[in-house]
Amino acid sequence: MTVQDSLAQPPAPPAAEAALEAHEVTVTFEGKGRDGSRQTVTACDAVSLSLAPAEIVALVGESGSGKTTLARALGLFQDIDSGQIRLSGRPVRGRGKDSVRPRDYYGEVQMIFQDPFASLNQLKTIRHIIGRAVRIHSGLRGRRAVEERTLELLETVHLTPAEDYIDRYPSALSGGQRQRISIARALAVDPTVILADEPTSMLDVSIRIDVLNLLSELRREKGVAILYITHDIASARYISDRMAVMYKGTMVEFGETEQVVLSPQHDYTRTLIAAAPDPGRRTRRRRRRGDSPLSA
Ligand SMILES: Nc1ncnc2c1ncn2[C@@H]1O[C@H](COP(=O)(O)OP(=O)(O)OP(=O)(O)O)[C@@H](O)[C@H]1O
Ligand SMILES: [Mg+2]
Repeated sequence: MTVQDSLAQPPAPPAAEAALEAHEVTVTFEGKGRDGSRQTVTACDAVSLSLAPAEIVALVGESGSGKTTLARALGLFQDIDSGQIRLSGRPVRGRGKDSVRPRDYYGEVQMIFQDPFASLNQLKTIRHIIGRAVRIHSGLRGRRAVEERTLELLETVHLTPAEDYIDRYPSALSGGQRQRISIARALAVDPTVILADEPTSMLDVSIRIDVLNLLSELRREKGVAILYITHDIASARYISDRMAVMYKGTMVEFGETEQVVLSPQHDYTRTLIAAAPDPGRRTRRRRRRGDSPLSA
């Protein structure tokens, strides 16, 4: 079944306040078991998630729990078996008058991937990569106008002076700089939502914080809603308003970030949080023991 088929189901009442919403989305994959028999993997099992305008939601969970599948479904890169995706309360890909067409959808919802090297065309310059997105989505045509917008986007992601970067190839950039190019390309369409699937996990620890701060700034200054997928609870806590936890294809927890971290309801979330390094916890323990927080 596909996204279209799912519309046969009665639509649930729209949540008008959500910028983007997954409503009971199920995605299955057919595979072969070790004995060659057919096996169905339910990567997402009736998963619901919403993003309010200008909200950052962190999506965490162990490897294989279905995070990327959900993000790909939300980005329309993945057909769904059942359920519904809604943009500002409007169903996606329906035949109804109020449904959003995929072309308009991609102008609102953009994805950033884990590996900026693989997601950028290595044979093209930054001018071409970002300029193309600008032309397709903004309606700007003239060479000068497109160049100006491209330079502006490079400045937004703090690649400055932008003139030094515009004619480079992705291979002549560091990992962190390449991820900024991916973000600039996503911003070229002036999206309301960015789906960021482990955007910092391939970056050096020292530059992760810069990319996180950039995402935070985009939300603050441009009102972009962001789904931030990560294995790193500390960064999820640092950046997000709400936190969603997936476990084996189901959403086991979804609430205010501090609430989820400080009083997790599900066993899996408790394990996840207990396993995460928490510098504050070490400091608190030392303080209780009367040690200096700086002692080893
Ligand atoms: N194209 C596919 N074909 C078959 N099975 C798939 C496919 N994509 C994902 N799966 C399966 O769906 C499940 C969820 O995978 P998914 O990539 O969504 O997990 P994830 O939470 O993003 O994991 P990770 O943290 O490792 O990135 C896994 O069991 C995976 O093997
Ligand atoms: Mg993944």
